[in-house]
Amino acid sequence: MTDANTQFADLAARAAEARKWAYAPYSHYAVGAAILAASGKIYDGVNIENASYPVTLCAERVAGAKAVSEGEREFVAVAVSTANGGTPCGACRQFLSEFGMDAVVVVADAEGRVLKQTTVHDLLPDSFGPAQLK
Ligand code: THU
Repeated sequence: MTDANTQFADLAARAAEARKWAYAPYSHYAVGAAILAASGKIYDGVNIENASYPVTLCAERVAGAKAVSEGEREFVAVAVSTANGGTPCGACRQFLSEFGMDAVVVVADAEGRVLKQTTVHDLLPDSFGPAQLK
């Protein structure tokens, strides 16, 4: 049984490993993400830029889309790896909130060292979510 800190450190390492596949020829800002889903499986993703800039996909949403399209509906933790400790953007916070306000967000550097640990709830207070549409 691994403790939570080891689990989050492993997730950060996965995000950092995935980061090498980032497609970021315009910003040169490579992002790797790894999501631990309720099933125990991990899904990783990278940012995928496009010559039509707004079409760019963030790493967190690529990882999340992979997870949801494999049947996952709940995220336990999300790790993000960048060169300078970047945190998920607003759109990614909203995307992640759909699948777990309590999900732990692990912010890591390019080597996968954990810089900060927070939650989706703390990153997106007073959020709009599924409860509003009931
Ligand atoms: N990016 C992400 O992948 N995730 C975020 O949460 C913030 C921004 C990407 C998008 C773009 O390819 C690059 O970082 C610079 O904005």
